[in-house]
Amino acid sequence: MKYRKLLVLFSLFASNLVDQPAPEVTLEQGIVSGKISKDGTFFEYLGIPYATADKNTRFQAPGPPPTWKGVYKAVDEMNSCVQKAFIGTMGSEDCLKVNVNVPVTAKRPLPVMVYIHGGAFILGSGGKLLYAPDFLVQKDVIVVSFNYRLGILGFLCLGIKEAPGNAGLKDQVAALRWIKKNIAAFGGDPENITIFGESAGATSTSMLIISKATDGLFNKAILQSGSSLSNWAINREPLQSASLLAKTLGHDTDDPHELYKIFSEMEYSDLILLKATKTLGKFYDTQLMHLPCVEKNIEGVEATIDDLPFNLLHKNSKNIPIIIGTNSKEGLFLTALATDESLQERQGKYLFASDVSFASEKEGDAVAKKVKEFYFGKDDISMKNLMNVSDLYTHLYFEMPSIFETEILVMKNTAPIYNYYFNYSGNRNYLKMRTGNSKESGACHADDVFYLFDARVLIFPISERDRSMIESMTSMWTDFAKYGDPTPKFSSVPVKWMPSNKDKLNFLYIDDEFSMGPMPSPEAYQLWKYVYEHRKTK
Ligand SMILES: *[C@@H]1O[C@H](CO)[C@@H](O)[C@H](O)[C@H]1NC(C)=O
Ligand SMILES: *[C@@H]1O[C@H](CO)[C@@H](O)[C@H](O)[C@H]1NC(C)=O
Ligand SMILES: *[C@@H]1O[C@H](CO)[C@@H](O)[C@H](O)[C@H]1NC(C)=O
Repeated sequence: MKYRKLLVLFSLFASNLVDQPAPEVTLEQGIVSGKISKDGTFFEYLGIPYATADKNTRFQAPGPPPTWKGVYKAVDEMNSCVQKAFIGTMGSEDCLKVNVNVPVTAKRPLPVMVYIHGGAFILGSGGKLLYAPDFLVQKDVIVVSFNYRLGILGFLCLGIKEAPGNAGLKDQVAALRWIKKNIAAFGGDPENITIFGESAGATSTSMLIISKATDGLFNKAILQSGSSLSNWAINREPLQSASLLAKTLGHDTDDPHELYKIFSEMEYSDLILLKATKTLGKFYDTQLMHLPCVEKNIEGVEATIDDLPFNLLHKNSKNIPIIIGTNSKEGLFLTALATDESLQERQGKYLFASDVSFASEKEGDAVAKKVKEFYFGKDDISMKNLMNVSDLYTHLYFEMPSIFETEILVMKNTAPIYNYYFNYSGNRNYLKMRTGNSKESGACHADDVFYLFDARVLIFPISERDRSMIESMTSMWTDFAKYGDPTPKFSSVPVKWMPSNKDKLNFLYIDDEFSMGPMPSPEAYQLWKYVYEHRKTK
């Protein structure tokens, strides 16, 4: 049936290499046109502006969506927010664009899946290079992706009205408001919206779940390898980061108004190139400078995050179905950056971040010793035990925060929480290959993504084995979006995915064989539970 449809469409296109237009859609902003996907199965509306980011709204919530006369041709495949990519600076400041992909034939109204891209809050876009929606759209859902401001433009946090922080998260909120309001015009169901994201996209998703600003905007959520409880989710010293960046320009100040003046007058293309290094303290904090922050209460400013995520999770988390999971070897990609010197620097320091605090230095030292022994025994940290470094990263940055978040959610919520552990290794484990870790078993950070998306950077044919993983992943993800249950009765996935509950966390082990099992690393969990008994909640 599907092949017949394809054949018919291919023969229609054979004589015409020009993009075929998709039906026009009328929005309050104006009329939008798009094009039909290459294989003819879905309509693409790429790069519709959902809000305004310019010098006037820089570092603040975005302005309202622009309007236009005539027809807006939404065919821009490469739209992105300005960032320093490895090929050089790309993207623009006025970058708040949404991509809407609509199946041609499926019955309306369609469930909607909104993807929030990752990239450490400094990189990425919603575009096809990585996130082509072909596999998901074929399961009769609308797939939406979008850009949000990145780096200093998205996350300068000075605690003043002119730069309250979290502009990038405010973009995400604006995108969700746009989708809620406009998706019906594309055939979508505004009451059937699932948000999902990976890495910084999952951390964002986790924050949107606990933000009051998003009440009523979505119905389900999927967190892939990211949590608002991870120590890299919040910049606890945002003024210090801003001040360090200003110093590289020759300004010695930590006055928020002076800092704002410096950054607001610069060209965005120069701003994005600013780079500074924090000096390493006793704690193991990341070098990420541009992260969400806890916003101050400022008159006339709508905050996205106004308390630490740990507190908001207890207070505000939405009672909706949620999938939360991580990959078996998340940390592998970070080992690619390690050198003898960088590891040597960690000798004798705490192997956790400053989001914990201890009654005394002695107590801190004792806890640090436990962590060091757990991962390295009696040995020093060095390139020789890089896989142990990887395990530390896996647990500290991804696996444990996701589990701690689950524990709070199952205690508070009645809606189901599904956990997974992704350990599959195939030809689409892109980041594992790119970071020179092909020989390692299991799945690196982001390796799950390419069994959901038809990334255009992956150009080789898809193996039968990978095809089968794509089929399972997209079935579970879209069934969850449709029914709040990733493995309903008629699912092709051979195992019933049981939700976690107050008494027991249940994990779907995603691999060549699927199975249900207990928490993957119980000893590491006990260790980190102990460390995070010292969590700072203020
Ligand atoms: C370090 O990693 C290796 C390889 O994964 C493992 O065999 C060893 O037990 C680990 N060391 C410690 C102290 O856990
Ligand atoms: C992950 O996959 C590897 C390689 O196939 C296997 O050896 C390991 O046991 C798996 N881990 C889990 C927890 O299933
Ligand atoms: C979501 O969409 C699916 C598929 O169209 C439908 O079966 C389901 O009832 C919808 N759920 C809600 C809450 O509207």
